[in-house]
Amino acid sequence: MEKTSKTEKAINTDRAYDDVKKEPSPFRQTFMQKAIEVRDLSFGYSGNRIFKNVSFDVSRGDYLGIIGPNGSGKSTLIKLLLNIISPTKGEIRLLGYNIKNFPDWSKVGYVSQKASSLNISFPATVEEILKANIFKKIGMMQPTKTQVREQVYHALKIVDMEEHGRELIGNLSGGQQQRVFIARMLVNNPEIMFLDEPTSGIDAKSEEAVYCLLARLNTEMGITIAMVTHDIGAITVHANKIALTGDKEVIVLNSGSGEEINEETLSRLYGYRVNFHILKHECRNCCNRISGKDEN
Ligand SMILES: Nc1ncnc2c1ncn2[C@@H]1O[C@H](COP(=O)(O)OP(=O)(O)O)[C@@H](O)[C@H]1O
Ligand SMILES: [Mg+2]
Repeated sequence: MEKTSKTEKAINTDRAYDDVKKEPSPFRQTFMQKAIEVRDLSFGYSGNRIFKNVSFDVSRGDYLGIIGPNGSGKSTLIKLLLNIISPTKGEIRLLGYNIKNFPDWSKVGYVSQKASSLNISFPATVEEILKANIFKKIGMMQPTKTQVREQVYHALKIVDMEEHGRELIGNLSGGQQQRVFIARMLVNNPEIMFLDEPTSGIDAKSEEAVYCLLARLNTEMGITIAMVTHDIGAITVHANKIALTGDKEVIVLNSGSGEEINEETLSRLYGYRVNFHILKHECRNCCNRISGKDEN
């Protein structure tokens, strides 16, 4: 029987450690795939039909804004895409995989509508909230306390909250809480993030800061973003794609210039006249900086 030499053993151990450190992602092999593919999807709650034969695609690296009237199925759509609820018909693929056999949910971030609108009064610090969300993978070498701390503070730094790690979440402003929720997803290095109305109940300035932060995560870190919002004017400035829900449909449009989203489509889905020219606004906070016009 062949014996493994000490050197070979050392090399093998090093390799194993490197593999753990790098956490090889199954998604690298599917790099060219779409982020979201929906084919012929139908869904309803006990007879109340929400979607009928819906098909659309979202590419990797897209910043998708999901808009539509109240009750048109925005939250339902996100829950379907995350396999929280199952369609009555059709297929959903996420990062190249059928969601029924999705290999690694740690790479998918989610802030639910409930989390965003919750009045957080429980006595947890920002640090604890992030730590609790770090995915512990079965069979993998678990991170040390120092590594966990590094992961937590790296994520907090990205959202500019590293000085608030020891504070109670309930003591932060609405805008700061939203940034903590975003950092809570970032601890797992997600490939895609889903956010359901993350800016509801916060002031306009903090709201724009959240849109800009997400735009940065999208352009600088390549994270695909899918966000539900009620603010058509703001999201059409920041997102490059818009999904409109309503009338049992999902229509996905490019929002680059905003021209593709016309008042007729909006008004049909909302069921009343929507004046898109009045809604649309300029971003004062980040857009220049992201496109490199205002670097200093
Ligand atoms: N768990 C549920 N059971 C039954 N009906 C539901 C449930 N969740 C949502 N609905 C209904 O489905 C429709 C779409 O809801 P939702 O996806 O939350 O809309 P939106 O997020 O666009 O406001 C609404 O009419 C809502 O009342
Ligand atoms: Mg909703």
